[in-house]
Amino acid sequence: MTTTVLRPRAANPELLSLLGRTPLARVTTDLPYPQPGFWAKLEGLAAGGMKARAAVSMLLGARERGELLPGAPVVESTSGTLGIGLAFAGQALGHPIVLVGDTELELSMRQLLRTYGARLELVDRPAGTGGWQAARLARLRELLGTLPDAYWPDQYNNPDNIAGYASLAAELASQLDHLDVLVCSVGTGGHSAGIAGPLRRHWPRLRLIGVDATGSTIFGQPARPRLMRGLGSSIHPRNVAYEAFDEVHWVGPAEAADACRRLARGSFVSGGWSTGAVALVSAWAARVHPGAVVATVFPDGPHRYLGTVYDDDFAAAHGLDPAGAATRPVEIPHARAVEATGWARCTTVTDPVTDPVPDPAAGLPVPGTPHPLEGSP
Ligand SMILES: Cc1ncc(COP(=O)(O)O)c(C=O)c1O
Repeated sequence: MTTTVLRPRAANPELLSLLGRTPLARVTTDLPYPQPGFWAKLEGLAAGGMKARAAVSMLLGARERGELLPGAPVVESTSGTLGIGLAFAGQALGHPIVLVGDTELELSMRQLLRTYGARLELVDRPAGTGGWQAARLARLRELLGTLPDAYWPDQYNNPDNIAGYASLAAELASQLDHLDVLVCSVGTGGHSAGIAGPLRRHWPRLRLIGVDATGSTIFGQPARPRLMRGLGSSIHPRNVAYEAFDEVHWVGPAEAADACRRLARGSFVSGGWSTGAVALVSAWAARVHPGAVVATVFPDGPHRYLGTVYDDDFAAAHGLDPAGAATRPVEIPHARAVEATGWARCTTVTDPVTDPVPDPAAGLPVPGTPHPLEGSP
């Protein structure tokens, strides 16, 4: 096997002073109904985005353990956000960054990653089992064999991903007087686990709501092709803190896109699929828990999604009709008893890897029931 030697790069540790310290916005836009308002942490405004926190933490942890040698390359699979975070961390700490993406990655994101100095490889077809993620990981393993001393952070399973969000939790704790409900999108599980733990030390009765994508396997649903990037997965990441969640919602692309567009028009702050999904669920939580303080994290901003979420032709081609978007969740008793094909909610959260499969007689799919607390029109 031939080896590839990447040009070493100088570290620029000054960059680390730009990490985090993002603003908190009050969002009162109708989503889609009038709602009392919730707080949104605008991680898209941070240098390197939300995942710069995780990237810096994972590289520093590996350096401390001697798993990452000074100047050695870092190789990771990404659907974009961690790639930007790693590009930032690589510059700050002096590591060449090699990323494995796929051909679903937006052109603007490909350009951005390369502009920041990362080497980007794209896989062009999903694996039969495990989808795009499995295909990217297979390519990543090949690359690890050709790059001497290369380090793979493995964001799905690396506890330093979770630890990187201690700074985000500390910022929220200082920006809020109180918090009743925290709403987090879930991809690797990193930021939900990393924020909820420390915040529960401040507010022990804090309710954590996870937001997943329809067709994602994370919380035990069957794998289906997914249009949305960022939240959701086709594997079972070990960084997901299943026991920390009080409930999980699955949101579909029509609902997330409608929420993004409403946010952009009414609150100026907006973002991509995960931002739309958490905003929709946060507005719902603020409505059904009157008087509760609700906060969420907007993982990124809208720019990356101008050709998808915010593009009318894309929306028409993918059936993202706001008129067809669910306006409230259906209740399902167990993630593996009912397939969520649109916005759905479940208050039994279990780890699908260790939770026994329910009786197949339960059947898939059956319709859920409307949420009894939802009082809005
Ligand atoms: C845009 C976006 N939103 C949300 C998430 C989910 O965050 P986490 O991986 O911390 O669960 C990701 C993860 O890649 C992301 O890229």
